[in-house]
Amino acid sequence: MKVLVTGGAGFIGSHVVDRLAERGDDLHVIDSLDAGAHQRLPGYLRRDVRYRVADLRHWLPDESFNDVEAVIHLAALGGVGRAGKEPANVIGANVMGTARLVQFCRAWPLLKRFVLISSFSVYGSNYTFQCVKCGARTAATRDPEDLAAGRFEVVCGACGGECSVLPIGVDARPDPLETYGASKYMQELCLRGFQGCPVTILRLSSVYGDRLRLDDGEATIIAKLAGWIRAGERPVLFEDGAQLRDWVFVQDVVDTIEKALDRQDAPNLLNVCSGVGTSLVEACATVGEVYGKACAPRVVGGFRPGDMRHCLGDAGPLSRFLGRPPVTFQDAAGLAFSPDQKRLKTLSTAGD
Ligand SMILES: NC(=O)c1ccc[n+]([C@@H]2O[C@H](COP(=O)([O-])OP(=O)(O)OC[C@H]3O[C@@H](n4cnc5c(N)ncnc54)[C@H](O)[C@@H]3O)[C@@H](O)[C@H]2O)c1
Ligand SMILES: [Zn+2]
Repeated sequence: MKVLVTGGAGFIGSHVVDRLAERGDDLHVIDSLDAGAHQRLPGYLRRDVRYRVADLRHWLPDESFNDVEAVIHLAALGGVGRAGKEPANVIGANVMGTARLVQFCRAWPLLKRFVLISSFSVYGSNYTFQCVKCGARTAATRDPEDLAAGRFEVVCGACGGECSVLPIGVDARPDPLETYGASKYMQELCLRGFQGCPVTILRLSSVYGDRLRLDDGEATIIAKLAGWIRAGERPVLFEDGAQLRDWVFVQDVVDTIEKALDRQDAPNLLNVCSGVGTSLVEACATVGEVYGKACAPRVVGGFRPGDMRHCLGDAGPLSRFLGRPPVTFQDAAGLAFSPDQKRLKTLSTAGD
């Protein structure tokens, strides 16, 4: 199949390119090699794949793209911090880049599937919590006075009991809280009314795996924790470190993308997550074991306004689509962060 992969030199895109190249797809990769994401040419680029260094904001496809059969659109400038500092750049790259790509796709007659890689950031704080005592449901909002007093859990408005987070599904309303999330939602909206082929939007929770940049200024919390521990430093955690996060393994993302290309009945919208919450303290212990470093976190209390207490996705539809549950952080962290690359390679090929 002739597949256009945008952002194919990035963390997730490079794994997608590996998988599709290895199964013999005819790959065309566009990546701007953005300096914020790449300080140098990544060492994992393949010799058997054609990379075009181009920014989707300016790229003009030549005739060789007329017979593209599928598009996997991963190109985006990432990071909540970066989007706050450079909103015009991030909105321009992510939204105008997508709008132009969609426009070109209209002229490609063989196109059978457009896969857009979106993000849980589109949900903002739109999680629902449920009281463990009385069962009442409540929004994720927390009272700054409670937070200041070290009461970090979401509290039930009816009985004052502690609430647990309900896994978020695609029926939750997108309500991004900041510019990056807004740009991801705008990417989704660029596909409204697109008639060229069926569209699959994959909303990813936070992804981990080999090639995740641990020392990037825009590193996600899991990348930061792993980066600290790899360097032998103790991670610093806000609140009490019991915040739950749902991290999805990059190979599960790749499996999902591959299936979305191959299956005519692929859904229009799917959350790609593990469905299992891991606390930050647990994550530190797991990653510490992988690196063989005892770096107990320093739990400093305090809080950052706008931080979610817990984030969790509903992996039910993904499990049905994949025909198996996604792997848990506990199970895949060894593969993802193994300092022994040879072992990692053997294990990941064995898992394919
Ligand atoms: N990593 C995560 O945890 C995560 C979570 C949810 C969603 N996503 C989404 O997955 C996709 C890939 O993310 P990643 O983690 O691999 O990031 P990444 O930064 O490693 O890769 C993105 C790639 O896109 C390229 N790029 C950016 N803007 C471009 C443009 N306008 N034109 C051409 N190329 C451009 C960059 O050079 C980079 O190589 C993004 O769309 C991101 O929003 C990532
Ligand atoms: Zn209650």
